[in-house]
Amino acid sequence: MNLKVQLGLQPTGVPGLDTLLGGGLSEFSFNVIAGAPGSGKTTLAHQIMFALAGPHKKALFFTVLGEPPLKMLRYQQQYRFFDIDKVDDSIRYVNLADDLRAGDFSGVLERITREVEAFSPGLVFVDSFHSVVQMARNGNEGVSDLQYFIQELGTRMTSWQATTFLIGEYATAEIEANPIMTVADGMLALSNDIVGNSSVRKMRVVKMRGQAHLLGAHTFRIDEHGVKIYPRMLPPLALAPHQSGPSVRIATGCAELDAMLGGGLPRGHAAMVVGPSGSGKTILGTAFLAEGARQGERGVIACFQKDAAHLRNAELDALIRNDDVILVQSRSLDLSVEEVLA
Ligand SMILES: Nc1ncnc2c1ncn2[C@@H]1O[C@H](COP(=O)(O)OP(=O)(O)O)[C@@H](O)[C@H]1O
Ligand SMILES: [Mg+2]
Repeated sequence: MNLKVQLGLQPTGVPGLDTLLGGGLSEFSFNVIAGAPGSGKTTLAHQIMFALAGPHKKALFFTVLGEPPLKMLRYQQQYRFFDIDKVDDSIRYVNLADDLRAGDFSGVLERITREVEAFSPGLVFVDSFHSVVQMARNGNEGVSDLQYFIQELGTRMTSWQATTFLIGEYATAEIEANPIMTVADGMLALSNDIVGNSSVRKMRVVKMRGQAHLLGAHTFRIDEHGVKIYPRMLPPLALAPHQSGPSVRIATGCAELDAMLGGGLPRGHAAMVVGPSGSGKTILGTAFLAEGARQGERGVIACFQKDAAHLRNAELDALIRNDDVILVQSRSLDLSVEEVLA
């Protein structure tokens, strides 16, 4: 008999996130979503909420600091995942700004607990707290009160029969040292880094109890569909049957070059063709793709510099129109390697 407790893993509905998490979010887990303002925390939380919430799993979304809920909703409604039909019955918003402005932390705690008991949600979100450090920097009194409050809130959130999320404006450096880490079952860190001159969004699973999650930082993008993650993974090592035998040479489409190469390029290898502008790189590439097409093998051409109209010669054009070759084109300045590969 298998005595292991099988914790129910819920798929999050966020493209790529379940791969990062090692399956999904475990039921009744307490999770922290951390990151600087604008890093995508509220968007990620909403995307998960709209994917998981329904009549049998209701969601409570508490807004605390920052933008008033109406303003937040206006922005969130622009995402495709936003489903107004779920709001009120399955998803309810509670604004705690007034309670908190009074500075009465224990009152806020009681209010949250009361709302949770009354609505019996399967999902609870609290969005969001400025970091304790930031409050201290601003000379705010009651830092230890706030710290105690967040710790206490975290402890309560772990005790509810719900999957819970605390969203916090933490700078990357503070995350690991934050005392909330010890009570959290899961911790996701979001950031928006500048690499070269481009801005690249990164997500990192700092912690996910009991799950073999992926390590390291993974690129993600936000568009009208919300968050999409491109997990950084090694391609599978298994070789296609034709690649496991002795190296097979394949024709490049240029007989003289094949003769110089001892029969062509070794199948499955990567070759780099370099040369100045006008030296024949695209012509050579086109010949290779055309030779593949003649032998019934489809090709892919990815281009980054030129637009397709400049790149395409008549032969390449015919290959693409004939569906023998697929064109992957990108002119974006901020693409990551993972995104291009995907
Ligand atoms: N349609 C969109 N396309 C691309 N990026 C978007 C879109 N909508 C919002 N964003 C990005 O998402 C960010 C907002 O994320 P948000 O979840 O509010 O962050 P946080 O809650 O961490 O402060 C914006 O700063 C913007 O860069
Ligand atoms: Mg936010």
